[in-house]
Amino acid sequence: MDRRTFVKNSFVAASGALLANCGFTAGTPLSQKNIPGTVAPSQIDSARFPDGFLWGLASAAYQVEGAWNTDGKGESNWDRFSHTVGKIKGGATADVSCDYYHHYKEDIAILKRLNQKSYRFSTSWARIQPTGTGPVNPKGIDFYSRLTDAVLEAGIRPFCTIYHWDLPQALEDRGGWPNRDLAGYYADFAGILAKHLGDRITTWAPFNMPWTFTYYGYGVGVFPPGKGDFEQFLKAAHTVNLAQGEAFRAIKAASAKATVGSAYGMAPAYPKTDSEADRAATARYHAMNNVYFLNTAMHGEYPKAFVGEPPYESMGFKPGDEKIMKVPLDWLGFHYYTRRIVSDARSGSRSSATGHFGTETEGEGGSASRDPLTQIHVEMPTEGPLTEAGLEIWPVGMYDLVMQISHEFNDPIIEISENGCCYLDAPDETGHVPDTRRIAFHRQHLAELARAIADGAKVRAYHAWTLVDNFEWADGYTQRYGLTYVDFRNQKRTIKDSGLWYGRVSASDRLSV
Ligand code: FCB
Repeated sequence: MDRRTFVKNSFVAASGALLANCGFTAGTPLSQKNIPGTVAPSQIDSARFPDGFLWGLASAAYQVEGAWNTDGKGESNWDRFSHTVGKIKGGATADVSCDYYHHYKEDIAILKRLNQKSYRFSTSWARIQPTGTGPVNPKGIDFYSRLTDAVLEAGIRPFCTIYHWDLPQALEDRGGWPNRDLAGYYADFAGILAKHLGDRITTWAPFNMPWTFTYYGYGVGVFPPGKGDFEQFLKAAHTVNLAQGEAFRAIKAASAKATVGSAYGMAPAYPKTDSEADRAATARYHAMNNVYFLNTAMHGEYPKAFVGEPPYESMGFKPGDEKIMKVPLDWLGFHYYTRRIVSDARSGSRSSATGHFGTETEGEGGSASRDPLTQIHVEMPTEGPLTEAGLEIWPVGMYDLVMQISHEFNDPIIEISENGCCYLDAPDETGHVPDTRRIAFHRQHLAELARAIADGAKVRAYHAWTLVDNFEWADGYTQRYGLTYVDFRNQKRTIKDSGLWYGRVSASDRLSV
């Protein structure tokens, strides 16, 4: 049986099973749809969004800025990684990328033209503190200050993600995130940003996808610094949990107007079978991958991600850490790209196929489970259609995830911090980029988001990933997620049909436009 058939059969066996273990059934039954996971056209036509809904686009400093050593910027871990042979597809680097450091005004003009209400961007720590500690590089702060002003002048809300994966290499050299000292250094950096920009920026998220950069960087090694040791991951994740708490306080101390939320990566998880063991494994997946950094903030304790007690000693947990980690986030931001099917790694029946799918990597290779402490086996299903990054399109997952988080965290204010898809469409002979599959992707996910809002979820924003095609981490330039096409030979931007469509959506709050 090939992978697709295997997963299809196993998902059909599990359809109607519970999402995690919190009592949500997984959307509409499959039999009511032509394409699994998709939504009916009538639902798209009738989708409505609340007044003042924040339509947005997102980007990340390392992926777009280029100018890797300009104006006093220090070396980052991603500079080092991409300059190391064999780490990035095609030997690519982000030394130049879309050169947004010099083209940001043009890109903000695109945001304005597309009627955007919110722009989520991140800052490069090494641009502001070249070695991660010590004095501020005035040219680095000045860049983000000019950027913020330009966003505000365009009538758009600036949403700052403080850390989207690029660590000053000098701090990696001091042990990176497994070194607990980084929590303090990071909080100092967050405080510097809030001091300089907090008069204009009020929406802050400390970390983009903390599970991803700690697990991929230290647990499996597909991201810098390329380590593959589960204990190092546990330590890194604990430092990040402490850093999140410390940064929350530092930001609030520097700026009374600040609100602090998150930009977590999440995937709704469905048990492979209805067995008790697979349902419990699915709950552990949710705890580990979705709410490991959220539960610590909201409740000051680790969620039940492990088969036994959390491995406090391996994490480097110290008495009192629960108080440092606990901070009442003002709103919750999370991304949704695709779902997972989960089983208990000890239960024998499993597919050997997993692999790497951009940043939605399941890095376990063919081994039995990710690790002996969680005993989860995770599959990337292929029941629905796939994007050109190989990720399954499962719009119903948006509804399921938003409802699950709303239920578990007492109806918080939610922002979708990212949602998007890779398609390689390029300009045709008329100069247009007819990326109709991307329009269909966003339309469907937004229809499911509208359904969640109609059912009571307090969602106030949606950020499509991403403003312009850019450097897609270890995949280099082999993937394009932008609503604007970039010709990397000459930096020419062309708004894709999806961008023009999204501009009309943002102006009308409707999807059939
Ligand atoms: C997300 C990352 C973002 C980009 C998209 C495709 O996981 O936050 O930087 O890589 O995936």
